[in-house]
Amino acid sequence: DAVYRAGVLGRRPTVPTDFAELERRARRASSPTAWAYVAGGAGEGRTMRNNRAAFDRWAIVPRMAHGHATRDLAVELLGRRYDSPVLLAPVGAGALMGRDSDVQIARAAAATGTPYVFSNQGCNPLEQTAAAMGSTPWWFQLYWSTDEALVDSLIGRAEDAGASALVVTLDTTTLGWRPQDLNLGSLPFAQGLGIAQYTSDPRFLGLVRERVAAVASGAAARPDVQVTLGAVRSLLSITREFPGRFLDNLRSPEPRAAVETFLDIYSNPGLSWEHLETLRSRTRLPVVLKGVLHPDDARRAYDVGADAIVVSNHGGRQVDGAIASLDALVAVREELGPDPTVLLDSGIRTGADVFTALALGADAVLLGRPHMYGLALAGQRGVEEVVANVLAELDLTMALSGAPDLGAVDRGSLVPNPSAS
Ligand code: FNR
Repeated sequence: DAVYRAGVLGRRPTVPTDFAELERRARRASSPTAWAYVAGGAGEGRTMRNNRAAFDRWAIVPRMAHGHATRDLAVELLGRRYDSPVLLAPVGAGALMGRDSDVQIARAAAATGTPYVFSNQGCNPLEQTAAAMGSTPWWFQLYWSTDEALVDSLIGRAEDAGASALVVTLDTTTLGWRPQDLNLGSLPFAQGLGIAQYTSDPRFLGLVRERVAAVASGAAARPDVQVTLGAVRSLLSITREFPGRFLDNLRSPEPRAAVETFLDIYSNPGLSWEHLETLRSRTRLPVVLKGVLHPDDARRAYDVGADAIVVSNHGGRQVDGAIASLDALVAVREELGPDPTVLLDSGIRTGADVFTALALGADAVLLGRPHMYGLALAGQRGVEEVVANVLAELDLTMALSGAPDLGAVDRGSLVPNPSAS
């Protein structure tokens, strides 16, 4: 209602209210390298297309004269009440889309009361992003490191800074095959930006120190990685560890050792359910496992003590040709029944998409690229508008479908789309 009223009063939105135009304008506002990393997907883009096609296979059947004049979008997740079922997904290297990305997104999240999941590869240390959230709840996303002490250190920092949940992403034990990034060389740049969370971590700095010492003593080879411009800001914290060296010579061993250490430890290719089982005794936070697609994995997640899962294919960035997350949701819900908490992301673009995902059994959804495009066009304000628009459309879809609250958004609201090709 507020969005329409503003329009009637002649107030033009800052960012386009439809995703297609938002995407076009964000592309124009970004460098080709940044665009390839953020908008791109794995392989030939089949998973990204699947994610969208899956929504087209369902049709909403609106209901009339139901008499509900107002809606309540609130939802309970992990023992806590949230104002709406929309969260902002963790997105690493966000600075590709705008300065001080995590802090800008956090301010927008706080202004709209939207929970934000901070990426392990965010561009601001989590403590700084947490400060920008005010009293709005936030979750921390972790990539399981090969260094177990670093896992504990990151969990401890998230707990101390006030996280409401810990999200462990399972689908990126190795990076997906992303031809556009490989062709343009965007990856080192993006990873350089996403290193800030690590270079602000005492355990990580300890590992860098060990590596520098090993190089100095001849026990390890001189680091041989490129330090991109993107990494420079994150690596400034290294200069506090090794004063006087870094700025003299970007090719000095410390920053390069930091990048090399990061590449070695950021994800564990051998991640197993046994690792995940240890989480329950390592944190008091609710645990959410992100990146689940198979019903058996969904079951296993709860068996090892997870409190929730995110059905996700990482926005189509990992396995090309993977099942659409919406299709996976249907199978996962069938396996788990109605009770366990299940979130969904990958392909959500509109309020009607949120409605469809909730009707198929998601308790809440996360937005990935949409809010990044808002950030690219108008910083904090752009993110706020993208979130407000999605919520406004969800609200009116509920209004026109006879759903006074989220409990009323269910399979009865949908049919398989008879018009789907
Ligand atoms: C991501 N995603 C992601 N996920 C995660 O757990 N940790 C991360 O650091 C990142 N980084 C990241 C960077 C970029 C540029 C993108 C686009 C995505 C995945 C993200 O959390 C989410 O699963 C998808 O973005 C959702 O799909 P849509 O909404 O982008 O289609």
